Amino acid sequence: MKRKSFLMAGLALGLGAATAAAAADGLPYQRVADMLYRVMSADREVYTRMVVQRLTVDEKIITASEHFGDDAALPLPAQMFRFGAEMVMDETEDFSYALLSLDPINRKNGPGTPLEKEGLEFVLDNPDETFYGEEELGGERYFTAVYPDHAVVEACVVCHNNHKDSPRTDLEVGEVMGGVVIRIVMD
Ligand code: HEC
Repeated sequence: MKRKSFLMAGLALGLGAATAAAAADGLPYQRVADMLYRVMSADREVYTRMVVQRLTVDEKIITASEHFGDDAALPLPAQMFRFGAEMVMDETEDFSYALLSLDPINRKNGPGTPLEKEGLEFVLDNPDETFYGEEELGGERYFTAVYPDHAVVEACVVCHNNHKDSPRTDLEVGEVMGGVVIRIVMD
């Protein structure tokens, strides 16, 4: 019953509200992180496959570029992801998320804490597993999860391999390109 009302609240109010309810009801942090990840990963893959891969690589109708406003191009998958993360950050301090990599195109997307670095190294070595840990930042305790971010379609590797700021030029489809970091404040 409780579970159902939590799901209904989630549908009605969006993910942020659902997460707060989940934490208050005592769901383990790991489960909350896994649920959040499911949603963001599905959205990320849908945008990349159905919009970016289809329109830029398959049908060659439009390009995707970080300067999408100036170039009349599609925003990059990483930008779509970050715009969402920034909106969440404006709404709540309960959790935050980011897309990072050990070999980032944008240096700001490199690991920012020792645990992030450890997590990104772990998912690179274990492409089908998730890294879970706890860290203290600014006097606050966090549950931190790192999920492998795979090159799910050709568009991912074509763009990264050809990008002038990319440290990698030999990425292949299926490979782990980085990780999604989800950080939840521990009560
Ligand atoms: C059209 C080009 C393009 C496509 C397609 C693309 N990326 Fe990126 N990606 C970028 C750029 C440029 C950045 C840096 C954006 C920024 O300024 O934060 C980036 C950022 C990232 C990052 C954060 C680390 C970094 O390199 O800065 C990861 C991880 C990543 N992309 C993985 C992927 C995956 C996986 C896919 C496919 C699902 C993908 N990208 C598709 C261009 C692209």
